Amino acid sequence: MIIAIDGPAASGKGTLAKAVAAHCGLAHLDSGLLYRGVAKGLIDRGLALEDEAAATEIAAQLDLSMLDAAALRGAAMGEAASRIAAHASVRAALVDLQRSFARQPGGAVIDGRDIGTAICPDADVKLFITASSEERARRRWRELVLGGAPLDYDTVLADIRRRDERDSTRSASPLRQASDAVLIDTTRLDAQAALSAALAIIGEKRARREPADLTPRARRGES
Ligand code: DC
Repeated sequence: MIIAIDGPAASGKGTLAKAVAAHCGLAHLDSGLLYRGVAKGLIDRGLALEDEAAATEIAAQLDLSMLDAAALRGAAMGEAASRIAAHASVRAALVDLQRSFARQPGGAVIDGRDIGTAICPDADVKLFITASSEERARRRWRELVLGGAPLDYDTVLADIRRRDERDSTRSASPLRQASDAVLIDTTRLDAQAALSAALAIIGEKRARREPADLTPRARRGES
């Protein structure tokens, strides 16, 4: 089973994707790490984020097992990732890696911006996770305060709005809800409630698939 989870920054999609993967016993890929990894590769080499050719080369050589999530966290790297993610050739260089991950035996949960629309348009379940920009900024602001690197709320809100705008207006695979994705608005949901909502949708999709695909007779190829 392939589960695609998309949504804007700080919508709760990452936490949700991790919890869904653990609950369903599936592998999980946070595709944002790929774009963050490319951005860090450019920064480490002293190259400009606008250098599309270099970014594409780094993307083509990216090794999932070498990505250090802790080193890629943070608002500055998220902003840099959003900028290089607008390059169509960088996105193209990352497609096969994400699709191979999705096609592993048993399937996978992948979260990002374009998983349901461009990377896995045939995913079994597509979720689009959102929340108001004010609530997402409040969550991000709290994380920063708890992490000992406070920023004022208005700055965090402006950053979130700028990133939303860039991610959803770029021409290459912009952030948008797939027509067959189910929307979960987490503005008033905690992580547990969001997980329950997602599991209910996944359970429903599974039940709908089972009579056709998974009956013992169908499995034996009998009609
Ligand atoms: O999910 P995140 O905050 O780690 O993502 C960082 C940036 O990477 C995001 O602002 C846009 C880009 N991104 C993307 O364009 N497509 C994806 N599937 C995932 C992330």
